[in-house]
Amino acid sequence: MEETYAARVPVYAFVNQKGGCGKTTTAVHLAGALAARGERVLLVDLDPQAHATMGLGCSPDRPTVTEVLMGDALLSEAVAPAPGGITLLPAEPRLAEFEEISGRLIHPERRLARALDEAYRAGVRFDHVLLDCSPRADGVLCANALYASSHTLLIVETGAFALQGAIQALKVLDEVAENQGRAPALRVVGTMFDRRTRFARELLVALHSRFGDALFDTVIRTSVRLREAPALGLPVQELDPTCRAAADFDALAEEIMALEGPGQIQSKDRPQTPQSARSDLMEYELRPLSPEPAPPASPADRPSAQPS
Ligand SMILES: Nc1ncnc2c1ncn2[C@@H]1O[C@H](COP(=O)(O)OP(=O)(O)OP(=O)(O)O)[C@@H](O)[C@H]1O
Ligand SMILES: [Mg+2]
Repeated sequence: MEETYAARVPVYAFVNQKGGCGKTTTAVHLAGALAARGERVLLVDLDPQAHATMGLGCSPDRPTVTEVLMGDALLSEAVAPAPGGITLLPAEPRLAEFEEISGRLIHPERRLARALDEAYRAGVRFDHVLLDCSPRADGVLCANALYASSHTLLIVETGAFALQGAIQALKVLDEVAENQGRAPALRVVGTMFDRRTRFARELLVALHSRFGDALFDTVIRTSVRLREAPALGLPVQELDPTCRAAADFDALAEEIMALEGPGQIQSKDRPQTPQSARSDLMEYELRPLSPEPAPPASPADRPSAQPS
C-alpha cells in the first residue's frame, strides 16, 4: 500500500468542537515557534472564519485552500510566505462553499491528504504541517484534517466545563475515526491557563488523570501578547520574543519535536527552552493543590454548611 503523507511528515490537526478555546492561537504561535527554530512549517487554515490567515496579516488573492480542496489549484500554487518564516495555506469565507458541495463529491474528506501527497511527490518539503480546524468537529473540513493528520491535538481551555467539553470532543473524534477507519494519535494541550485560579490548577490535575501522558507538560498561559498578536498580524515570536507566551510556545515546540524523535532534536543546533518557562511550570506540578475533603463519618460529624 502506498505510504501516506502523514507517515512521512508529522501533521497535526488542532481540534475541539468548542469555539474560542484557543485552537487558532495555539496553531499560529506553535507554527511561529517551530519556524523560529529553523523548521519548515506549513500552517493550513481550514476554517472559513479565516482567523489564522487574518491573524498573520494575510488577505489572500486567489487561490486559497478552497481551490486546493475543490481541485482547482495545486497546494504549491496556493501557499504563501507569512510573517515569522511560516508558510501559510490561507483561507477565506468562501471555504464554506466546499462544505456545501461536499455531499456531491466522492470521498471529500480525502482532498487535503491528496493535495499534500501531490505536493510531496512534486518535491515540496515541510518538516511539520499544522492544520487549524473550525469548531465544527463533525464537519467535512475537520474530517479532511483528521484524514490527513498523524496527530490530533485536542486544545483544551483550562476554564469552566473544559473536561466535559474535551470528553464530548473525544466522542465526536472517535466517531470520525471509526468512519474513516483510521485514528491519528491523540495529544492534549491545555491553554489559557491562569495559575492564580485554583480552579484552573485543579482542572490541570483532572486533565492529567484523564489523559495521562497524552497531555503535554507545557501549558499555554493567558497572555496579553497573545490577544494583541492577531491585530498586529504577527506570531508572538516576532512581536515580543522575550515574553512568556513566546517561552510557552517554544517549550511546546520542543515537546513536539521530541515527540517526533529525539534523534531529530539532537541532529540540529536548536536553541534551548528558556529555563523560566519550565521552572514556572514546575510550580504547579500535576497534583491537587488542596486536599480532598474527607467524607463525613456520620451526620453528627458533618461540618456546618456555613463558613466558620
Ligand atoms: N493563552 C491565551 N491568552 C490570552 N488570550 C488567548 C489565549 N489563547 C487564546 N486567546 C484569545 O481567546 C480568543 C479565542 O482564541 P482562538 O481564536 O485561538 O480560539 P479558537 O478555538 O480558534 O476559536 P474558534 O473555535 O472560533 O476557531 C481570541 O481572542 C484569542 O486572542
Ligand atoms: Mg479558530
